[in-house]
Amino acid sequence: MTQAPIPQNVDFDADLIRRYDTAGPRYTSYPTAVQFHEGFAAEHYRAQAEASNASGRPLSLYVHIPFCDTVCYYCACNKVVTKDRGRARPYLDRLYREIGLQAALFDNSRPVEQLHLGGGTPTFISHEEMAELMTTLSSHFQLLDDDTGEYGIEIDPREVGGDTLALLRRLGFNRLSLGVQDFDPRVQRAVNRIQPASQTLHVLEEARQVGFRSISVDLIYGLPLQTPASFAVTVERMIEAGPDRISVFNYAHLPERFKPQRRINERDLPSASDRLLILQQTIAQLTEAGYVYIGMDHFARPDDELAVAQREGTLYRNFQGYSTHAHCDVIGLGVTSIGMVQDCYAQNHHDLERYYARIDAGELAVFRGVELDADDRLRRDVITALICHFRLDFRDVEARHGIVFGDYFERELQALAPMQADGLIELNDAGIQVSPKGRLLIRNICMVFDRYLRESRAQRYSKVI
Ligand SMILES: C[S@@+](CC[C@H](N)C(=O)[O-])C[C@H]1O[C@@H](n2cnc3c(N)ncnc32)[C@H](O)[C@@H]1O
Ligand code: SF4
Repeated sequence: MTQAPIPQNVDFDADLIRRYDTAGPRYTSYPTAVQFHEGFAAEHYRAQAEASNASGRPLSLYVHIPFCDTVCYYCACNKVVTKDRGRARPYLDRLYREIGLQAALFDNSRPVEQLHLGGGTPTFISHEEMAELMTTLSSHFQLLDDDTGEYGIEIDPREVGGDTLALLRRLGFNRLSLGVQDFDPRVQRAVNRIQPASQTLHVLEEARQVGFRSISVDLIYGLPLQTPASFAVTVERMIEAGPDRISVFNYAHLPERFKPQRRINERDLPSASDRLLILQQTIAQLTEAGYVYIGMDHFARPDDELAVAQREGTLYRNFQGYSTHAHCDVIGLGVTSIGMVQDCYAQNHHDLERYYARIDAGELAVFRGVELDADDRLRRDVITALICHFRLDFRDVEARHGIVFGDYFERELQALAPMQADGLIELNDAGIQVSPKGRLLIRNICMVFDRYLRESRAQRYSKVI
């Protein structure tokens, strides 16, 4: 296949989307979290971490701060809702001990090219605590002090004080993502997230002034009381504000799994046809405004480094989403965090009590994970290429993994034939090229290569669209 820049146009085909709308994973990892098991314990993680030092690969740190001041009813994130700011202290004390335990496993000359503070609400902690957290991280890991790393933080605009952003910038953060969801006050009331547009726009403007390199916003469609007309207004206002990246997530309503979602009145949710219309018009609005579709709910300005990396074939995807820093080992720090080190994924305990108990006992908080075998690594490589670049070169895969693509994936290539007939992909002897109308259905294409899905079709996932 040619290595011409990868085209980034996307076509919305309502009929195809309806036909292919099945539940499916988002492939922030492969194998996905469903395959994590408790037979994988701290000692397995330790062995993988030690083995990873031979590579000298750069590191990516993910730090989870679970607390939120109020609950947004739609929320599917791992969080602890509390008004008591004092709860940060005992958490940070454990986090620092974990940082010490984890850092001892890794060669401390390995540079930290990527850092992400997520939550919950990272700015729930005080400015002093934030500075202390960064000092603790930099005393254990090789943080870059020349602003060349991708150092990001999730920001809830309601949790930003007068000088919060300036402080974060000084501490080394250079990108942030803002939780917005919807500007409509009726929708905001229905999901218990009252966030005046003026507050959001002010934070965005201030982030630019203090020199954040990349500003991203999160919107959600499918929330109660949204209509195609109301969401179009939200998108329009967002375009006017002009962030570098816009994520438009599809609301995953799973009230049996996420308790706060039971407070959402199901009668207020937009119909399936309205959701589809909202998606269609959002794509039209964003692409007409010059944003390109990166994939999996993400849009970016054409000059944003994600968009550039995609065109050049160097984009990567991990738990932090799309990234330009491929092949870092990811160290997950804090309750519920997931790490990806050498040939494993490892997850910390989800609940604070257990997390604290393990750290207090002087142990890592890993409670489950999975070790990848050669087949997992091969399939992860295939899925990552498709999800990042919408194309796959069979010869490249053969060279990297020592297989004959057509033999190894005979069954998968047959399963792709209907997708070829439907125009989602172009398939030939050299590879797969996802068409503009296949892009919105990239999960379905990746699912063909997921060996575990065949074995566990019954598992319930969020809908593809
Ligand atoms: C941890 S939150 C972002 C930081 C901060 N807590 C905030 O809300 O501003 C991550 C993002 O996940 C998205 N999200 C949360 N629950 C969701 C759901 N049920 N369906 C789709 N997206 C969801 C929201 O867009 C949210 O901004
Ligand atoms: S969306 Fe953000 S602020 Fe709202 S409950 Fe979830 S994590 Fe907390």
